[in-house]
Amino acid sequence: MATKSKSKKAYFCKSCGNEFAQWMGKCPACNEWNSLIEELVIKEDKQARGRAPMKAESKKALPLSEIHREENERIPTGYGELDRVLGGGLVPGSIVLLGGEPGIGKSTLTLQVAMELKSKVLYISGEESLQQIKMRAERLGNMNPACLLLNEVNTHHILSQLEEVRPDVLVVDSIQTLYSPQLDSTPGSISQIRECTGEMMRFAKETSTPVILIGHITKDGNLAGPKVLEHMVDTVLHFEGDRNHAYRLLRSTKNRFGSTHELGIFEMAGDGLHEVLDPSKVLTNSFEEEYSGIAVGAMLEGLRPMLIEAQSLVSSAVYGTPQRSATGFDLRRLNMLLAVLEKRGGFKIGAKDVFLNIAGGLRVEDPGLDLAVVAAIMSSYLDMAIPEGTCFAAEIGLSGELRPASRISQRVSEAAKLGYKRIYISSYGPQDMDKENRLQIIKVSRLQDVFAGLFAGA
Ligand code: TYD
Ligand code: MG
Repeated sequence: MATKSKSKKAYFCKSCGNEFAQWMGKCPACNEWNSLIEELVIKEDKQARGRAPMKAESKKALPLSEIHREENERIPTGYGELDRVLGGGLVPGSIVLLGGEPGIGKSTLTLQVAMELKSKVLYISGEESLQQIKMRAERLGNMNPACLLLNEVNTHHILSQLEEVRPDVLVVDSIQTLYSPQLDSTPGSISQIRECTGEMMRFAKETSTPVILIGHITKDGNLAGPKVLEHMVDTVLHFEGDRNHAYRLLRSTKNRFGSTHELGIFEMAGDGLHEVLDPSKVLTNSFEEEYSGIAVGAMLEGLRPMLIEAQSLVSSAVYGTPQRSATGFDLRRLNMLLAVLEKRGGFKIGAKDVFLNIAGGLRVEDPGLDLAVVAAIMSSYLDMAIPEGTCFAAEIGLSGELRPASRISQRVSEAAKLGYKRIYISSYGPQDMDKENRLQIIKVSRLQDVFAGLFAGA
């Protein structure tokens, strides 16, 4: 069918995926500047479009009361951490897009799921040969005899295989390698990604099969392809972490079937990814000796409380301009906290180099970790260790006031569960906290009060 069509160029917006006949500086659809790029497409004839397996029967509008909600029974993936992020498992007919940097473990995670699922899975890889996948599966140890592999990028061949195999779950690694013969542009181009996702989506909706698509991300951390890709799918997951660390975090940035506040934690080992069920234990250390510059914060990732270590080093600046560096923490927020320490706490920290590191390679955005960060910095500055069994949960305001961290009771009970002896929280928070009697709750309203308690004698 492609032989009769004539080739033509079109311009696609990188941001919204719309197609235009000519180049413009600004996309008329989404007003993004400089987002149109040229791609070669084949003008599809109407028949080619018609082969798309979408049923075109006309539909009638219905009142809500007459709509019967099919109990969407979820398919458990075999990994509780993943299920929780998905909102309770895979929903039939839904499309999940899993994005992440190269080498972070997307293929490993999906292959593990394919091996763990009790149903027929079709794993399509456009990136790796069947031998490579087999080798990886052997490394993971667990084999699902009902998992079929296919090395194919042409979506028409894939659709015909899908009709033959009729899998219960479909995995595509990756959407950027797929190629629809309907279009002449290269795999990974905006028009191809849009078309291929559309074809996979029609398959998912028509057969009520859950589909997991793996997606590449660009240098700046966005999913490669048109933004519209994220609108098309039901769930967008991001797999992230520091490649030098073993921990990997799974977050959802969009979920039509669950909350986007959940977080899954995995650890990459020699035999694949393992779930980290008790993150606080691995993110804090217990040393024989007491070290200065370490403070433990009770933080919240999504809705999950966990304790994490902030490590800091404060030293005299060797060069003219003091260095500030933060790993896993926003540098601007660190600078803000240092300014507060200088101005409100009266500590001459402006001329010091300050290094901050959050344990485990995690990236923390929770402002409730502020107090732990400041305590770690002060501990290093004064070279005095923070007493063992102490943790912190409070946000710091610009006047040096301590503001309550969100869901403070969950943080306190997590600290109590892990055997911490005392926690510093803001005195402006809820007042009924004293019921937890297993650990001492120290309520403070100003930074100075914290230091007076921690570093008495300094
Ligand atoms: P991979 O799943 O190929 O990443 P992606 O699909 O996101 O590009 O993961 C590759 C990395 O994981 C690779 O550097 C090797 C490492 N790895 C392990 O450490 N242990 C294992 O058991 C496996 C399968 C991979
Ligand atoms: Mg891969």
